[in-house]
Amino acid sequence: MGWSQAEILAATGGAILRQGRERRFGEVVTDSSKVKSGSVFVALKGERHDGHRFLGAAVRRGARCVIVHQSVDTAALRGATAVRVSDTLRALGELAHYRREKFAPRVLAITGSNGKTTTKEMVAAILEEGRLDGQPLRGKVLKTEGNFNNLVGLPLTLLRLRRRDKVAVVELGTNHPGEIQRLAEIADPDMGIITSVGAAHLEGLKSLAGVAREKGALYRNIRAGGAIAVNLDDPWVRRLGARFKGRKITYGDRGQVRARSWRARGGKGLEFSLQAGRKRCRVKLNYLGRHNIANALGAAALTLGAGVGLPAVRRGLAKAKPFSMRMQIEDWRGVSIINDSYNANPASMNAALATLAEIEGRGNKIAVLGDMFELGKQADKAHRSLGEAAAAAAVDALYLLGERAAEVRKGALRGGLRREQIVLGRDHAGLARLLRERLKKGDWLLVKGSRGMKMEKVLQEIKGGRG
Ligand SMILES: Nc1ncnc2c1ncn2[C@@H]1O[C@H](COP(=O)(O)OP(=O)(O)OP(=O)(O)O)[C@@H](O)[C@H]1O
Ligand SMILES: [Mg+2]
Repeated sequence: MGWSQAEILAATGGAILRQGRERRFGEVVTDSSKVKSGSVFVALKGERHDGHRFLGAAVRRGARCVIVHQSVDTAALRGATAVRVSDTLRALGELAHYRREKFAPRVLAITGSNGKTTTKEMVAAILEEGRLDGQPLRGKVLKTEGNFNNLVGLPLTLLRLRRRDKVAVVELGTNHPGEIQRLAEIADPDMGIITSVGAAHLEGLKSLAGVAREKGALYRNIRAGGAIAVNLDDPWVRRLGARFKGRKITYGDRGQVRARSWRARGGKGLEFSLQAGRKRCRVKLNYLGRHNIANALGAAALTLGAGVGLPAVRRGLAKAKPFSMRMQIEDWRGVSIINDSYNANPASMNAALATLAEIEGRGNKIAVLGDMFELGKQADKAHRSLGEAAAAAAVDALYLLGERAAEVRKGALRGGLRREQIVLGRDHAGLARLLRERLKKGDWLLVKGSRGMKMEKVLQEIKGGRG
């Protein structure tokens, strides 16, 4: 498939800095080590690396067109074409947008403070089971890989579109104002969902109102004739949805799509009755935690709104599975571990603690928590609230790591935990040693913290230790 020179110029508005030998190229790449023969290499300037320094390497590996935003040493380009744009990051988005419009799949976009990746996986699993316009969708669904949700990841996702893809399910993330606006311009979504508005990335977005304004850009950028899914249980999302003039599918306690009579399936997941208008079915999930019912309802609302049938929703939800380190259930010598160490913010901490509290087991419930990052001025207060939440979840013990562990302890003491129930660790290995001594068969362990805390190392140390 690839790109013609004319398409690259039309998409990016760039100018030829140097005309090379070819006029047709392969696919777009931003990582010089992924360049193949004929590739278009976009030189991005990141925090750590500047792609312009890798032009020579990219051309040696076979790049035949390079897109740049500063002057380059043309001798190093051999016979490759060079296109100059004002901003290569923007150009990458424009190329992705061009491809999105050319192949014109249905684009479903997902943003929110929590639950984006989970909802995205559920939506894609449902679509794989469903039909659209009378055609089965299996094998024709493109989705964001992992967490590729920023100004680089979203374009790279859309650039993977193939002609046969009928739907693209994309995750949009943000940590500074204006990012969702730009991501939505690139994706030009037919449908959108904001899973929640909560305290995340407050360093960039300042306040909950700031988060709502930022996420709201998704609803404001839905294509004419498109539709949105609205979480009525989240007051901020409800307000954002109220301003949308087009078609809406609501979900939550009083939504068009709702959950009834849920129960736990042992330690394996949950099940509930899904009600969509007058129809209903029993749904099984491989996820723990009530917040995942909300995610499942959001995925159902979005896909039902897209025209997929309820049986496909049921089958897809039963197939979707958590990623590693996201509420992943593990077993170590009869101890059940909820490994949620991928990331943390106040809402996801509360959701994880509530999940631990819901579990019916005879053993001890122990929370191993690392700091939450990127909370700006509210960091200390948020960590004290975390301690209170852990106490309210009636954990039997709290093992803490990080610079703000003392704040968490303050909150936990205020919430009613006793001093001897709280342990502050010096490092991962130290915590693991203490935990290995106390863990007994039947116990439940929740492990969670911000990505930078690498709380999974505690688990590795526990499992890898001797004795
Ligand atoms: N609806 C929800 N409400 C609160 N917390 C949630 C919700 N859904 C998921 N979580 C929590 O957030 C964690 C991350 O979930 P997920 O990866 O789906 O979110 P995300 O929005 O994609 O996060 P990121 O910003 O890291 O991309 C989960 O493991 C869980 O603890
Ligand atoms: Mg994500």
